[in-house]
Amino acid sequence: MPHRALACVLALVLVGAAGCFYPGAEVPYVWTPHEVVAEMLRLAVVGPGDVVYDLGSGDGRVVIAAARDFGARGVGVEIDPKLVAESTESARRAGVADRVTFRAGDLFQTDLTEATVVTLYLSTELNLRLRPKILRELRPGARIVSHDFDMGDWAPARTVRVHVQERGSQLRLWIVPRQS
Ligand SMILES: C[S@@+](CC[C@H](N)C(=O)[O-])C[C@H]1O[C@@H](n2cnc3c(N)ncnc32)[C@H](O)[C@@H]1O
Repeated sequence: MPHRALACVLALVLVGAAGCFYPGAEVPYVWTPHEVVAEMLRLAVVGPGDVVYDLGSGDGRVVIAAARDFGARGVGVEIDPKLVAESTESARRAGVADRVTFRAGDLFQTDLTEATVVTLYLSTELNLRLRPKILRELRPGARIVSHDFDMGDWAPARTVRVHVQERGSQLRLWIVPRQS
């Protein structure tokens, strides 16, 4: 486990989630377990033709797995520059540096038009704020997968439950409709 992630776990235990917020971050850094990442990418049927955007990309694990295990290209957007640097180094070590990019910035300021798949582990409130942007910028047929949080009254096309080390995760898939 990276030192930063360990520090975050300790902060969560000792002082609550506020200890893991980078200034300007709207949700704290909490990673998706690797097995759940793989299930998210399978749920979106990610393949070599895809460009996967993880909005709030943390340590980069979703984008790196999309490139390394599913042959996709990927972009991670993360407000914390230290996590961006960590992600870039992890991508280099995983041998996928030529197929992934990590950007330091605000996910709401990110152009999504190139994405064919968007992955999220944020909050229902952030998902709802993102929803108009997603429907405006993504092409019909693009897939969105969210770990644990829904999109209000936009019903998912599929829902999957995953259990990892006694913890259950709910994954939801939406597909951008033709007319939105
Ligand atoms: C719950 S973590 C998810 C990390 C990763 N996607 C995963 O599933 O392992 C959410 C991440 O979003 C980042 N974040 C929060 N608000 C953001 C914003 N407005 N723009 C970009 N990143 C943001 C946090 O710093 C944190 O790393």
